[in-house]
Amino acid sequence: MAKYFINPKVQKGHINPEIQGHFSEHLGRCIYGGLYVGEDSDIPNVNGMRTDVVEALKEIQVPVLRWPGGCFADEYHWKDGIGPKETRKKMINTHWGGIVEDNSFGTHEFMELCRQLGCKTYINGNVGSGTVQEMSEWVEYMTFDGVSPMADMRAANGSEKPWKVDYFGVGNENWGCGGNMRPEYYGDLYRRYQTYVRNYDNANPISKIACGANAGDYHWTEKVLETCFDHGTGYMDGLSLHYYTIPTGDWSKKGSATDFTEKDWYQTLSATLFMETLIKRHGAIMDRFDPEKKIGMMIDEWGIWTDVEPGTNPGFLYQQNTMRDALVAGINLNLFNKHCDRVKMANIAQMVNVLQSVILTDGAKMVKTPTWYAFNLYKVHQDGELVDSHLETRYVGMDEFKVPNLTESVSLGKDGKLYMTLTNLSLDEAESIQAVLTETEVKSVKGTILTGGMNAHNTFDAPDTVHTVEFTDVTVKGNEIDFTIPPCCVLQLAVEI
Ligand code: AHR
Repeated sequence: MAKYFINPKVQKGHINPEIQGHFSEHLGRCIYGGLYVGEDSDIPNVNGMRTDVVEALKEIQVPVLRWPGGCFADEYHWKDGIGPKETRKKMINTHWGGIVEDNSFGTHEFMELCRQLGCKTYINGNVGSGTVQEMSEWVEYMTFDGVSPMADMRAANGSEKPWKVDYFGVGNENWGCGGNMRPEYYGDLYRRYQTYVRNYDNANPISKIACGANAGDYHWTEKVLETCFDHGTGYMDGLSLHYYTIPTGDWSKKGSATDFTEKDWYQTLSATLFMETLIKRHGAIMDRFDPEKKIGMMIDEWGIWTDVEPGTNPGFLYQQNTMRDALVAGINLNLFNKHCDRVKMANIAQMVNVLQSVILTDGAKMVKTPTWYAFNLYKVHQDGELVDSHLETRYVGMDEFKVPNLTESVSLGKDGKLYMTLTNLSLDEAESIQAVLTETEVKSVKGTILTGGMNAHNTFDAPDTVHTVEFTDVTVKGNEIDFTIPPCCVLQLAVEI
């Protein structure tokens, strides 16, 4: 029996809801068809936003949404996406599939989507091919409340009142698609561009995010911070990090989203666990510059990236989503909780129809993916306090791909309940667990579980194959909770204390 020690008296940090954030890019069918169908569509919508998708996203309490990219952000010129739709410029989306982008979804539409979702806004600015003036005017357009050229233009386009921009990214992947820059050069550009990301509303300052590293590029983190770290907030509030789980480890042949072996399973989960090394090592560099942890690590692109579904446009990055994705989500969300002292935001890539999506659509049809169910189980942690917890684990896996059999995290919710989330990475072994809560009597436990075969997924013809059910195999004795976690699952226990 694995021992699980939980001490609700020791709280280790606040879990920012933004840790469960999302990302939406002008890529494939994420925006067009996925989130936005336009006011004239037969698909039920409110101001062009799909009602079914918005309702499903509200259910998982999307805390923040990043837009318009991704690589697209460093080619995006925001003025193309405002004003009457019929006169908006059309362009070729050169990064993603070479299709025509008609700019019918722009700043006003993004703000309307966030309004409907009730989430915070994260705008990613263009450093790669945009000017300082363009970035500065976008901020003015969105946030200035008064008489100014940009505020007047916004009002003329139908929005009298400014919006709140919660986060602003100064460039995206500027080491790659965002301009192939050296970190020192980007650092200097960050200093310059961020100067003009003005806070017009001092009561609601914009959190500024600098472009961080790709995976294990520690040199980038070191040099960017060396070049532009400044003490105090308002200059840099976050540094991003991008890390994708590639099942085979080979970008040229990443592996199928649904057709994989047990060995592929363990290889993938082992790759996903590398996230902890990245958080620790980039975190250690950040600690040297910022020991007080004023700057958040913003993991604003993460998730599993497989080969596209056969027969689909390779530039659209459309992939299915199985129990393996649910485990990838559960493992990462537990890690983000555990490192909530430094990780202040994370955005899974991407929200709908692209990479590890929570929702897939096909015309008027929609399915919730196993990843959606994992997020639904973890939403209880939003705004909670991380609780001290230690679980005994052992290694499982195949050949060189060995992983701990279990991951977990525990938080104390605002409602006074303890929330435990666990993942069992083993494909065939259940584990009996004895959880002991220090000096805390347990009144009741309610369990919810997501489980199924490793390749199980939801399709448009069978949308309910994977879904959560009640988990009742729990015994409570004083301050002890005994339960047996089945293989290949994501489990949530809500504990009344
Ligand atoms: O999410 C897909 C792409 O991956 C993004 O556009 C880019 O930032 C990253 O390389």
